[in-house]
Amino acid sequence: MKITKICCIGAGYVGGPTMAVIAKKNPNIEVTIVDINEERIAAWNDKDVSKLPIYEPGLAEIVEETRGKNLFFSTAIDEAIAAAEMIFISVNTPTKTYGKGKGMAADLKYVELCARNIAEVAKTDKIVVEKSTLPVRTAQAIKSILHNTGNGVNFSILSNPEFLAEGTAIQDLLNPDRVLIGGESEDAIESLANIYGSWVPQDRILRTNVWSSELSKLTANAFLAQRISSINAISELCEHTEANVNEVAKAIGMDSRIGPKFLNASIGFGGSCFQKDILNLVYIARSYGLNAVADYWEQVILLNDHQKRRFSDNLISTLYNTVSGKKIAMLGWAFKKDTNDTRESAAIYVADHLLNEQANIAVYDPKVTSKKVQADLNYLNTRTAEENNTLVKSYNDPYETSKDAHAIAIMTEWDEFKTYDWQKIYDNMKKPAFIFDGRNILDKTEMESIGFEYSSIGK
Ligand code: UDX
Ligand code: ADP
Repeated sequence: MKITKICCIGAGYVGGPTMAVIAKKNPNIEVTIVDINEERIAAWNDKDVSKLPIYEPGLAEIVEETRGKNLFFSTAIDEAIAAAEMIFISVNTPTKTYGKGKGMAADLKYVELCARNIAEVAKTDKIVVEKSTLPVRTAQAIKSILHNTGNGVNFSILSNPEFLAEGTAIQDLLNPDRVLIGGESEDAIESLANIYGSWVPQDRILRTNVWSSELSKLTANAFLAQRISSINAISELCEHTEANVNEVAKAIGMDSRIGPKFLNASIGFGGSCFQKDILNLVYIARSYGLNAVADYWEQVILLNDHQKRRFSDNLISTLYNTVSGKKIAMLGWAFKKDTNDTRESAAIYVADHLLNEQANIAVYDPKVTSKKVQADLNYLNTRTAEENNTLVKSYNDPYETSKDAHAIAIMTEWDEFKTYDWQKIYDNMKKPAFIFDGRNILDKTEMESIGFEYSSIGK
């Protein structure tokens, strides 16, 4: 099928950057991104591209170049679906917070709503592409809804999982290790392969069956997260011995079978994908009675929870077993650098733990708003919004954030943190002044020579 118009449902961290790059590389295809969230669409349409709802290096430039030419953002969902030959489903699939599979399974209600919407509106044949991370066999559910409720039009379902990482999304999209397309209809697969083919070499475009494609996405994220939990487990052992986790990571990473990437010990992984996808994998394995498989992968999450808890426990015990009434400065709130996304960020859980101990928290993140910090804490439902508002303050500058603080906790590896005047920060803190470097980004010798009591992960 010749594709002239694409509709993407969901203008989020996946849909936004992916469609911007598809539009840039396919000037003859009209790409419309739709969303039910009017505020979000308005932000995508803001003349000032620094106000886009998503911060991603390089994204604003591409949006500026393509928006209004062949890239459009709209809330007119039905019209965009009706007009397009190819529809991407790029809506969120959070972990269920209710009912069967609560806390484990993916909540597919948004995906199902999309499928029903497409079935209702479509008058011509469509290729429907699942882009959101979904449990294995979701394509089957989408297919069943489309075929049973549609107006007799022909739907081809493809699975095209996204492998981009936030913070490097544009680079990952422009130069992907591979593009994965799972499907039954060869014609539909080739239609999508042609779109990617405008910039991705054909040998990097893999064609598989739908279920392999769906499972590959969960497996890739599970393997990546497993590496982090593995190095984090070793980091705790390092702290009890004379070993240094950075040295261990370097030594093992030089083995070409292991490789050097994704071996940074940290406060624990966050983000919208790792935990959700592993929980999904665990849930699916258990639902087939594969308890050994489920238990194996569940450990990756349990170790990650342990790592976050261990960080805050260590901070509390170092501050003489009490943080009550003490100001703790948190540098970074995003789950990693170069993004304004805070989903599952370790900072949220560490802050919550410290707040249980009655700490006062000061937050500075270059890209995260105070409103977002409060919303993240309120979502946990541990205390009232008023309490969170009183105990947690956000600042626009790191020096104010750390003034009179007893300790600094580094939660995100933003590059700018390395460039601060740390002497000035030290001078304005309570003494002894502590740094808990959850990202191992500062130099221990330098910090100690200033006078800080410095500790990091795994050293
Ligand atoms: C991940 C996958 O990398 C991507 O392919 C998939 O499409 C979505 O999920 P993302 O969550 O955006 O991407 O970021 P990623 O770079 O994978 O980092 C996830 C978390 O792991 C972050 O909190 C990061 O700080 C942490 N991390 C990463 C470590 O703690 N150590 C590392 O060595 C690498
Ligand atoms: P992701 O990281 O997967 O892109 P986001 O939460 O950033 O997740 O984006 C998902 C977007 O999908 C949100 O902006 C949300 O408003 C939108 N969305 C969810 N359900 C629907 C729907 N039925 N129709 C249109 N948009 C939807």
